[in-house]
Amino acid sequence: MIDLHVAEAKPTDAAALVGVIHAAFGARPPLNPPGTALQETTESVEAALSAVGGLLAQVDGEPAGAILLAEIDGADHGGSTPELTRWLDLRRVSVHPKFQNRGVATAMVGCAEEVAAARGLDGVRLVARAELPATLAFWGHRGYVEVGREGTTVHLAKRLPVELDAPAAQDMRDVGRRLAAVLRAGDLVLLAGELGAGKTTLTQGIGAGLSVRGQVTSPTFVIARVHPSTVQGPALVHVDAYRLGGVAELDDLDLDASLDETVTVVEWGEGLAEGLAGDRLEVVLSRSVGAAGATAEDQEDLRQVRIVPVGPRWLDVPLRVVLGAGPEEGVRGPAVAAD
Ligand SMILES: Nc1ncnc2c1ncn2[C@@H]1O[C@H](COP(=O)(O)OP(=O)(O)OP(=O)(O)O)[C@@H](O)[C@H]1O
Ligand SMILES: [Mg+2]
Repeated sequence: MIDLHVAEAKPTDAAALVGVIHAAFGARPPLNPPGTALQETTESVEAALSAVGGLLAQVDGEPAGAILLAEIDGADHGGSTPELTRWLDLRRVSVHPKFQNRGVATAMVGCAEEVAAARGLDGVRLVARAELPATLAFWGHRGYVEVGREGTTVHLAKRLPVELDAPAAQDMRDVGRRLAAVLRAGDLVLLAGELGAGKTTLTQGIGAGLSVRGQVTSPTFVIARVHPSTVQGPALVHVDAYRLGGVAELDDLDLDASLDETVTVVEWGEGLAEGLAGDRLEVVLSRSVGAAGATAEDQEDLRQVRIVPVGPRWLDVPLRVVLGAGPEEGVRGPAVAAD
């Protein structure tokens, strides 16, 4: 077992980071145009660390990996409010050749995502080179998708989940109502969560936010119900997929509406979304009984909402702003991982 340790870097770590950056980028095959990483100096790295920060990975106490951090506003991918998203930008992602294939990069990426979540950012971005397919595959495996390309420069991004507490049914409805503000025709929302988790309650909030007609209730006797808009917006299609074989059948539903023209909300069990392609919001509702009280009545019924935006549709959508989600409570200490 090796001792692998990743922590946020201090300005005094600049020399260690520059050593790793030079060793890693110096070992790359020559690229045209060449990268600029070898021009980094202790001074330039120290300035970057003082401004926004960085990560230093150590293996058995030796510098093994480095990342410089920056914070940037969203780039325009066709969304209407890209400036409302804010991203952690990873620069100079480096693993010393001596410490390759030991999980150093993976541990650093995990730590970077924790930093982004703790700072209340929407996601993580970086640029990679098209000539390095193994590098692109590394990011692809970790959920990073290509969002743009200029020549051989590939822009990659990963949205982070948004997590909220919903202590009461009214909070759950409120999440739905706020979510409705960004929903538009053609959108698909998947609600996963155990029996009674609050899926229908959240859908009621979406219905209220969209101003649709009819009471949103558990679709017990029908698989799907169409709620037309009262304000010339999209209709809400509310589906109970427990009774469907899977989402492959969604298109086969005999609805009085085309899914391209409606907001479709599907209640279902966990795991059914796996293997599904395309844009969607995956909403996972979970319930845990807190150990706050000694008696059953005293015990808190904790409900959490986790929203995972999937696909380019959601890249620029400022979910945190819309949902009023702040940074995570309590910035975590240094992450430690071991191979
Ligand atoms: N955040 C919450 N806190 C406390 N109670 C809640 C919360 N959200 C919903 N409830 C209550 O939990 C009960 C079940 O909610 P709901 O019917 O929305 O769950 P569901 O996930 O749709 O259930 P099913 O699996 O039967 O479809 C309702 O009485 C609702 O008022
Ligand atoms: Mg329900």
